[in-house]
Amino acid sequence: MDWGMANRMARIINPKTGKAVMLALDHGYFLGPTHRIEEPRKTITPLLPYADTIMLTRGVLRNCVDPESCANVVLRVSGGVSIVGPALEDEGITTSIKDALRLNVAGVGISVFIGSSHERQTLLNLAELVNQGQEYGVPVLGITAVGKELEKRDARYLSLCCRICAELGTHIVKTYYCEDFEKVTTSCPAPIVIAGGPKLETEMDVFELTYNAIQQGAVGVDMGRNIWQNDYPVAIIRAIRSIVHEGLKPKQAHKLFLDVKSEHEKAAANA
Ligand code: 5RP
Repeated sequence: MDWGMANRMARIINPKTGKAVMLALDHGYFLGPTHRIEEPRKTITPLLPYADTIMLTRGVLRNCVDPESCANVVLRVSGGVSIVGPALEDEGITTSIKDALRLNVAGVGISVFIGSSHERQTLLNLAELVNQGQEYGVPVLGITAVGKELEKRDARYLSLCCRICAELGTHIVKTYYCEDFEKVTTSCPAPIVIAGGPKLETEMDVFELTYNAIQQGAVGVDMGRNIWQNDYPVAIIRAIRSIVHEGLKPKQAHKLFLDVKSEHEKAAANA
C-alpha cells in the first residue's frame, strides 16, 4: 500500500487496536433535517473528541465543523436523490476527488443498491470511485444500502453485497449487523464496519449490537442515530468506544454510560 493510502487507512482504522469508531452524520443528504441533527454544528461539536472519524457531506463539513478541530473525515460523495423522490437507489457521484482532497479527507464513502434497478449504475459508481481513490491514495468506504427495504438485511443478502463491494476494490465496507453475521465477515476480504440503523429501544441493545458485531469480525461501527438521537450522546459514544477499542462487555459499557450520564446531569444541574 502506498504511503498516502496507508496513512489515510490509519486515520480511519486505529493501527493500535485495529478498530474504528466512525460517527455517521450524513443522513441529511437524502433525508433533509433529520431528528436531532436539524442543527448539525450543535450535534457534531460535543461528539468530535470521541469519534475516530466523522462521516458527512462536504456542505455540512464546510459549514458546521471547524477546520481547527482536526477531525478525520470520511466524506459522503454519493447522492442526488431524496426521500420524497421516485427512487432512492438512483444515486450518482456528487463530489469530485479533487474537492475531497482539498478537504483533506481520510476517505470517501458511496452507497450501492444491490438487487435494485440501479444496481449496475451504483456498482459502476463505486468502481469508478475506487479507480480515483487508487490514483490519489484515498480509501473508499462502500456502503451496502437497502433504501426503504429494511427487511432485506439478512446474512445471505448482505454477504452478497459486501463480497461484491470487496471484489470491486472497496477498502472498507459498511453494512448492517444481522443474524449469522459471521457469514458476512468471513466471506468479505475487506474490513467491515456496521451502521446502527434506526434508534433501538434501549442503550443495552446498542451495546449488545456493537459487542456482537465486533466479536463476529467487524472492525468497528459507523453509527449515527443510535448515538445522536440518544438523550446522552456523549455518554453513549464513549460507551460504544470502550467496546470497540477496549473490548468492554455490554454490561461494563452500560456502567460507563450511566457514570458519564450522571456526570452530565450533575454538570447541567450546577450550570
Ligand atoms: C445511510 C448511511 C448512514 O450513514 C448510516 O445508515 C449510518 O447511520 P445509522 O447508524 O443512523 O444507521 O450510510 O445510507
